[in-house]
Amino acid sequence: MDDDNGIVFPKNFIFGAATASYQIEGGYDQDGRGKSIWDVFSHTPNKTKNGETGDVADDHYNKLEEDIALIKSLNLKHYRMSFSWSRILPDGTISNINKKGLNIITRKSTYCWLMASNQQLRCTIGICLKVLKINLVVVKAYSDYADLCFSIFGDRVKFWITFNEPWVTAVLGYLTGGNAPGRCTGCTPNGGDSSREPYIVAHNQLVSHAEAMNIYNTKYRNNQKGSIGITFNSDWFQAISDDPKDVEAAERHQQFFLGWYADPVFFGDYPQSMRDSCGDRLPQFTEQEKELFKATKSDFFGINHYTSTYVGAPRKEKVKENPTWYDDINVFTSYEKDGKLIGDKADSSWLYVVPWGCRKLMNWISKRYGSVPIYITENGVDAPGESDLSISQAVDDDFRLNYLKDYLKEFSNAVMIDKVNIKGYYVWSLMDNFEWADGYSKRFGITYVDYKSPDLKRTIKKSGRWYAEFIKNY
Ligand code: NOJ
Repeated sequence: MDDDNGIVFPKNFIFGAATASYQIEGGYDQDGRGKSIWDVFSHTPNKTKNGETGDVADDHYNKLEEDIALIKSLNLKHYRMSFSWSRILPDGTISNINKKGLNIITRKSTYCWLMASNQQLRCTIGICLKVLKINLVVVKAYSDYADLCFSIFGDRVKFWITFNEPWVTAVLGYLTGGNAPGRCTGCTPNGGDSSREPYIVAHNQLVSHAEAMNIYNTKYRNNQKGSIGITFNSDWFQAISDDPKDVEAAERHQQFFLGWYADPVFFGDYPQSMRDSCGDRLPQFTEQEKELFKATKSDFFGINHYTSTYVGAPRKEKVKENPTWYDDINVFTSYEKDGKLIGDKADSSWLYVVPWGCRKLMNWISKRYGSVPIYITENGVDAPGESDLSISQAVDDDFRLNYLKDYLKEFSNAVMIDKVNIKGYYVWSLMDNFEWADGYSKRFGITYVDYKSPDLKRTIKKSGRWYAEFIKNY
């Protein structure tokens, strides 16, 4: 199948679009929904841009039919959505199931399922944790929740994702404190311990993932015949020079970032390089847990990828570094080399356009984790200054269009030339939405949402129109 600029994928390649419940739904107190960590965080003064919250977001909760029509008009046969834990279980536990809250998910999944016979809903079950207690109570609560989701929706949902970007919750939620629940050393009002809590959180997420896999395998897989796995996030970390010390630093960083989560899932334990630097702050898995990982793994390797960063071994001379949490890794990272940026700057401070990096990351994953099917569960960009443009200027989004074409070309090279086993790609995002601590100031949608209009009008952007045509034949 050939298209623009020779972007070629196998005929049965999956193309979709992704969203997440808190970022689009709104309806934060409708029909008995409980509070998630993001409700609490965004309502705490000075935590999000302009104090913005997901209370209304894109009001998707009340615009379901309109948005299903939008999905259809974009020729999307695959849609990735997430469930809000606190909508289903308002206090986080199985003792109180909110029947009304199940309503939207039932309606939505049925719509999507009916829309096309091969419609495949890819659901994330764990993104909005009500409380990520720093002990194993959360593993039990999570397993109960996952079990409930499989039992109710497993007839329609054939692709489950246990966690989306667990790294982000652990690092931004418990190390920098910039995301919910806003804990870190010195964070107010919550406090925390940036040197230990992220590792404990990650540990509990990983064990929760394995437990959910185990439940699916033992109770549901035979009848429901679906797939289940986890989605990580990672930049490509490019060595800043060919000096072996820099090459080693970049490899160590890649392991620390992505291997932290993926190694336990696929190999049963953390990378040795992490153990060496974290010492006893990195928790130990019990023998039983290690066995569970080996038995469950993940049916696929889900990866959200947006950008790349230079990495080098520590320097004596002053280098222009990113704001850093990397003490444990003992490297420096930078967005520029010899005064030149690694790629064009997008709108988000962490995002640079580096298409060649995605091909390298795909090859790194394939080399380390073998032939497990890879799904790009998110890729996309926010265009510089997009929020300040008029609607007609914003929907004419050549910046995003070029990003998508250039990244797709490199993913296609990874599949067709390097023979990496990538099976699918989901653009982030179906529509502009609540970009966490950045509020509504960053727009990642292939559809524009006019937050100033009373009905939150949606307009498909140029990139969306292109994507709709491009995916038609797959
Ligand atoms: C990944 C996250 O899963 C999503 O929630 C976020 O909006 C995008 N990255 C863009 O930052």
